[in-house]
Amino acid sequence: MIISGKELSVKLKAEMAEEVAELKAKYGRAPHLVVILVGEDPGSVSYVTGKAQACNALGIDNTTIRRPESATEEEILSLIRDLNADQNVDGILVQLPLPKHISEEKVIATISKEKDVDGFHPLNVAALWQKDRCILPCTPKGIIKLLKAAGVEIAGKRAVVIGRSNIVGLPVAKLLLDNNATVTIAHSRTQNLKEVCLGAEILVVAIGRPKFVTADMVAPGAVVIDVGVNRDPETGKLCGDVDYAAIEPIASHITPVPGGVGPMTITCLMENTIQCYKNFMA
Ligand code: GUN
Repeated sequence: MIISGKELSVKLKAEMAEEVAELKAKYGRAPHLVVILVGEDPGSVSYVTGKAQACNALGIDNTTIRRPESATEEEILSLIRDLNADQNVDGILVQLPLPKHISEEKVIATISKEKDVDGFHPLNVAALWQKDRCILPCTPKGIIKLLKAAGVEIAGKRAVVIGRSNIVGLPVAKLLLDNNATVTIAHSRTQNLKEVCLGAEILVVAIGRPKFVTADMVAPGAVVIDVGVNRDPETGKLCGDVDYAAIEPIASHITPVPGGVGPMTITCLMENTIQCYKNFMA
């Protein structure tokens, strides 16, 4: 069974569009997301365009602020402080990665935690790990929604997450744990990675390498969630971290790339923006 994030996103976005219209009627303005893009990286430009398009489709006000690669750290931090203070801005997202001379850590920590729609602020991360109310990071949140919508029972399952980044690996492992899976966090230097993966009933791969997971690493009937966004070195086409053609016949469920996890990330960003707005307005 192919789990389509695209399909689920269409449904969730239609529901959110209705909610936004109701909220706008109730509070007199729509939610407002500000996206900051520093530099011209084509991948980042494309992500930022996708976020703006999603906002427009839902009736969420959105502003993209572009700054040149040469912008100073202080200029970006000062811009964020102004947006933090702006009562008409509900969500702030700074597209990563940033140029080397700008500290991502400082930028993320400067965004008000109430407007941190990415869920990257240290106080949001701490709240997640302490089981407090928090803004969930978009990709991990989207993965859990996909699993539930596909009817995959998470509780009691053995889950293996390959990857330990702050953006995906660590938080998705935490969310699976909170849903009562037993979770192993593996990575590129895990010994016997094949054996570890073969023990997985749910395998989440977020390593950023094309065809990193091969068919011999997947147990028959496993649920495979592919978070990778790579270029296939042979065809130049977009591809994930798993060898999709070889694994699709073995897996009980699998997410394609594109059209799997990716659309859910943007959908959850929209949800987080609406949530920040509601928290502010209520
Ligand atoms: N770059 C790649 N993914 C993300 C994301 O989820 N948020 C931000 N801000 N930048 C990214």
